[in-house]
Amino acid sequence: MNITEVPKNGVYLADALTFSKSLPNDSLDLVLTSPPYADIKVGSNISKEYKSIKLSEYVEWFLPIADEIKRALKPNGSFVLNIDTLTKDGDRQLYIFDLLLALVRRTGLHLIQDAFYIKPPAIPAGSVSKYTRLKPSVEYVWWFSKTKLPKANAHKVLMQYSNSFAKKIRDVSRKHLTGMRYMPSGHSLKTERICKDHGGSIPVNYVYASMNDGSQEYMEEWKKRGLDVHPARYPEMLCDFWLLFLTEPSDVVFDPFTGSGTTLSSAKRLGRRYIGCDISKMFIEATQIRLGMVREHRLDMDMKLDEFVMETPIETEVAEDDIEH
Ligand SMILES: C[S@@+](CC[C@H](N)C(=O)[O-])C[C@H]1O[C@@H](n2cnc3c(N)ncnc32)[C@H](O)[C@@H]1O
Repeated sequence: MNITEVPKNGVYLADALTFSKSLPNDSLDLVLTSPPYADIKVGSNISKEYKSIKLSEYVEWFLPIADEIKRALKPNGSFVLNIDTLTKDGDRQLYIFDLLLALVRRTGLHLIQDAFYIKPPAIPAGSVSKYTRLKPSVEYVWWFSKTKLPKANAHKVLMQYSNSFAKKIRDVSRKHLTGMRYMPSGHSLKTERICKDHGGSIPVNYVYASMNDGSQEYMEEWKKRGLDVHPARYPEMLCDFWLLFLTEPSDVVFDPFTGSGTTLSSAKRLGRRYIGCDISKMFIEATQIRLGMVREHRLDMDMKLDEFVMETPIETEVAEDDIEH
């Protein structure tokens, strides 16, 4: 069968593999998702809704889905995968790295960049609460494509300049700072060339975001309707970042593991086309409620710096010779 139509905007009750097979070739601009992690444990109230994937079966379970994602991606589209590893019986498990190798070596995707999602740390438990481990606060975000040159535009997600760099820009424009800058690496650069105002700095390869992103009214609505809050949501700001960076208005965004609909909600708000699927009826209902509450449809979304300021978790002291551009 020759499938030519991208399904209409919305969320579908379906298994990720079956649904992905129904998507046309070369039709998606961005697949942004977070699959169920291996051997994940959730509370008993939600465990019948939230199915985990066995650690030993994870890679073989995921690869057929990845094959379909690759087939359905546009030649310059992107696949962004948020995933986290697991500690089991005191050992850090390496399944996500097996998956990464398999996605590149067996599925044939290019790893464009490895990035991170930095989140406020969870309540200490296990060895962490015994003060013998550090609080985990980082998840992986891997960006793949079928080409080495996927569509991307960092102008849409510029970060605020650090105070010291902003000062350098001011000093150069007032001619208080001129001449060559000699770097510890042995390179030398013209100050006027590197301290130019480009409207903001190219973002670093992490997004710091907490779940309190101000868009949580939908949770009240879920509670009112007797729906459980999804146990493994990611923040909308993480999606906003990748959507703005990798897509344009009207581009097609797909989330095969929609969960509570974070990707779809962000895509709808930013004027992208949005399709998703999930195997849980309850999460589908929750997503539909959430999508119904998305207020703005900002088709001309050209985020300005003061509207979208990437938070920087650590006050970065910029050394005299650091360059931002
Ligand atoms: C980590 S959650 C996604 C959370 C989502 N990013 C959010 O912010 O709400 C993974 C989701 O995958 C769904 N899921 C598990 N196996 C699936 C499958 N085979 N096909 C489709 N969805 C599946 C689960 O029901 C769960 O909602």
